[in-house]
Amino acid sequence: MVRIHVREAVEADAEKVARLIARLKLVNEELDPHFKTVPNLEEVALEYARKAITGGDTRVLVAEDEETGEIVGVLVYTLVDRVFYEPRIKALITDFYVKARYRGRRVGSLLLEKAAEKAKTDGAGILTVVYPAGNNIAAGFYERKGFRDLQVEKYRPLD
Ligand SMILES: CC(C)(COP(=O)(O)OP(=O)(O)OC[C@H]1O[C@@H](n2cnc3c(N)ncnc32)[C@H](O)[C@@H]1OP(=O)(O)O)[C@@H](O)C(=O)NCCC(=O)NCCS
Repeated sequence: MVRIHVREAVEADAEKVARLIARLKLVNEELDPHFKTVPNLEEVALEYARKAITGGDTRVLVAEDEETGEIVGVLVYTLVDRVFYEPRIKALITDFYVKARYRGRRVGSLLLEKAAEKAKTDGAGILTVVYPAGNNIAAGFYERKGFRDLQVEKYRPLD
């Protein structure tokens, strides 16, 4: 049984966090051409990760294999003030990725549980997530975790 420790990311984790986030974006790219990634994905992911780790309304949690110290999963959420609605503060999960060989071993469950706990202490009253419509694994995962549809994002390409 793998022992996993979930903690907040620190600046020294930025490169590893960036690599996992880049992989997530490549998963999205495979699901839909409208998620075609930029040519300098790694560079952009590193800048994004650094900002998210140090940034004001964004939280980055990492799952670490206690035995090896390897970062095997990441979850990023942002606190958003829904000015018109109550509860006003939502925690929006924008990035969530577990390394393939660690999947199905409850790493994702642990990251989500810790994120929910932390979001509450951040003042959030609702936890939401966005992911590509074609991501059936994510759909099944969130369904099991008690998430329901809240809103829909449609698109039409502009030529
Ligand atoms: C979604 C993801 C983070 C889940 O992480 P994980 O560590 O595999 O999840 P867990 O092992 O904690 O599984 C939690 C539940 O989801 C189910 N589940 C996980 N992967 C599944 C799959 N491929 N098919 C069906 N069910 C699955 C598990 O059976 C478990 O159900 P239970 O709680 O009823 O026992 C992981 O699959 C992943 O990184 N996927 C690629 C990136 C992605 O899709 N991210 C989500 C976008 S926001």
